[in-house]
This record gives sequence, structure tokens and C-alpha cells, in this order.
Amino acid sequence: MTAKMVQKIQSTVRKHELWRQKCLNLIPSENLTSPQVRAMLGSDFGHRYAWDEFWYGGQKYSVEIEEQAVEAAKKLFQAKYANVRPLSGHLSLMAVIMGMCQPGDPIAISHSDNGGYPLNLQARFPLDVHYLPYLQDQYSMDVPGAIELIGQVRPRLVILGASIFLKPHPVTDLAKICQETGTTLVYDGSHVLGLIAGGQFQNPFNEGAQIMLGSTHKTFFGPQGGIVLVKDDEDLAEQVSVTLRPNPVLVDNYHHHRVAALAVALAELLAFGKAYAKQVVDNSQELAQSLVQRNIPVIGADWEYTSSHQVLVETKDFEQGKQMCTQLEAADIIADAGVRLGSQEVTRRGMKTAQMPVIAQLIAERLQGADPSQVKKQVHSLTSQFQSTAFCFE
Ligand SMILES: Cc1ncc(COP(=O)(O)O)c(C=O)c1O
Repeated sequence: MTAKMVQKIQSTVRKHELWRQKCLNLIPSENLTSPQVRAMLGSDFGHRYAWDEFWYGGQKYSVEIEEQAVEAAKKLFQAKYANVRPLSGHLSLMAVIMGMCQPGDPIAISHSDNGGYPLNLQARFPLDVHYLPYLQDQYSMDVPGAIELIGQVRPRLVILGASIFLKPHPVTDLAKICQETGTTLVYDGSHVLGLIAGGQFQNPFNEGAQIMLGSTHKTFFGPQGGIVLVKDDEDLAEQVSVTLRPNPVLVDNYHHHRVAALAVALAELLAFGKAYAKQVVDNSQELAQSLVQRNIPVIGADWEYTSSHQVLVETKDFEQGKQMCTQLEAADIIADAGVRLGSQEVTRRGMKTAQMPVIAQLIAERLQGADPSQVKKQVHSLTSQFQSTAFCFE
């Protein structure tokens, strides 16, 4: 009976894997890891505990692997401090906020209506949340308005970065007022971390941010997890780590197999990040243009649609987005209900600008009513040519 249960589980996972190999995945929050990263995820480290203060025996290599990941992260992002313990991008953000704020402190963030990450921490941890103002086009920040708000509220933190992230945020523009008000400027690079690593998106450390955090599995093609980087301030590095060690608040065991996998992904980005990130951005720009040429409306004509991995298809409302997402999935094209499309995973599979008009054509055909089984055949024909992982070591 129990052996049957295992077989059923294995069969479900296998079905999922075979299906997703055939799909065209355009979700902007996901990516593929290399075989080398996957090997680390399956390593013995996945069975182990380690901690700063002496308690567990047997941890000498866990300590070493964390040091290797931290050193690689510091090198890649030119940061003086890196913490690889958060288990997700969300926990990285929580670590920064809870480490730096007292209950009731004011912070300023972007509202989800403007593409901001829908932070819900204040439901449990009282914070005085202010939303940065945006212009009519919804995704461009009202910089003078934001400067005024920061001057008035004097928030503990200003958090830039977003979930709908089509173009750089005004880090430079807000750095001066943040300095004057004693506000720490934080950059949530969850979506664009791999592009920053490859030098293809604004580097917030060069523009005045002191802390950068994010997920390690979106454009950053590592294992699912999070990271916090501090440019050069030791006190800040201590504060953002306070919930992560040595007395756990947000994370206890920080999953050493994930840390080992992250160390490999960091090495891959050091070696291949520039070429990868450039191809991701070239691909998203080509995809946006190709969609528009096929009468699929895309947000952002004023800023040439995108300078990240994301392309945002215009929708009336969430219901329409959901419907489009379902229509696409019937043809094995995987998107979200945003409808946000991301070029990073197809790029990691080796697709280049030449494939973007093909993808746009498949999306347009399906959204304009073509039979899903016909579109699906073409999707499978395309994906069958891209079954390996690019931008990694042999
Ligand atoms: C801007 C932003 N920050 C944080 C997160 C949370 O990241 P994770 O899914 O790694 O917890 C997300 C999720 O997509 C996000 O878009």
C-alpha cells in the first residue's frame, strides 16, 4: 500500500516534469537551474543542521560552503556584506524590515496597484505604511511627490523595487532626500537580481541604495531562496541579520543544500551573467515589439515597453487576465493572470531574439481564437529544440 503511494507520488512528479519540459514557460518569477545546481540540491547537505554557536557536531563543511556562497555573492554584487540565510525573497524583505524597524515605524513602499510587492506584514507587525506616489501611467513614480512624502514622513525605510518591474526605479533621485531624513534606502531586486548581476539593469548600489535584497530564483537562476546584500555599512549588516542569527526569529535551519546550490549559481552568474542578462533583455524587448506588431496590446509604449525581463500585456481587469492565462495554458503556454510575460526562462533554455516573433505569433494566434491543440503542437515543436540549459559549465 505505502509502496503504491510512493509510486503515485513519483508518477505525479514525472508527469509534471514531462509536461513542463514541453511547455513554453513565460512566468517572470521562475527559472531553470543547471544540472550542477540541481546536484547540490540533492546532496547530503539537505539532511544536515549547522549553527553559529557550537551545538551541532559535524558541521565543518556546512560552515565552509556558507563562506563560499557569501564570498561569491560579495564578489558578484560588489557588496561588503552578504547574508544567504533567508529561505525566500519574502523572508529577505521581512528580515530587513523587522531587523531595522521598531513597531509603529513609518516606511514608504510602492502600492501593488503600481506594481509593488503586496506586503502584508503590517497585519501582524504594526508599521505606519505610506505609499509612494505614481503618475497617471501607473508604473512611473512621481519623483517630486515622492521626495515631498519622504521629507514629511521621514520614514525609517524607503523600499524601491517591484513585482511589475518594467524599467528602473528612481534610486538616484530619492537618495539625497533619504540621506537628509536619515532614511535607509532599500532596493527589493527580487525580480531583476540576475539582470543586476549581469550589469544589464540599474545597480542600486551605484545609485545610492544601501541594502539590496531579493529572490534567488527569478532572473537570478539559482535555487529557490533569498539573499540580503549590504553595500558597506557594518551596523546595517548587523541589523538586517538580527532575525536570522544566532537566535532565530525568521529562519532557524537555513538549508545548507540550498546554500551549496546558491554558491554554484553565483559562480555561474560570475562566469556567464553578462551574456545571459543581455540576452534576457534583448529577448523581452523583441517579444514586446513582436506582440504589438500582432495587435496584442502591451503596456509602456512611452518607454519602449521594457528594459527588464518582463513584458506586460494590457488587460481590462483581473478577470480578463485570468481568462487569457487559461486560454494560453490550453496551448501549453504558461503565463500569469497579470498578464506578465518573462523572457528569462526561455533564454536559459537557449532561445534568442530569433525565437521571440515565433513565441509572439503563438500567443497572438491563441488569444485571437486559434484551436489550442493546433497551437500546442507548434509550442511543442519549438520547445523540443531547446531542451538543455544554457549559461552554465559543462
Ligand atoms: C518584488 C518582490 N519581492 C519579494 C517577493 C517574494 O519573493 P519569494 O517568492 O522569493 O518569497 C516577490 C515575489 O514574487 C516580489 O515580486
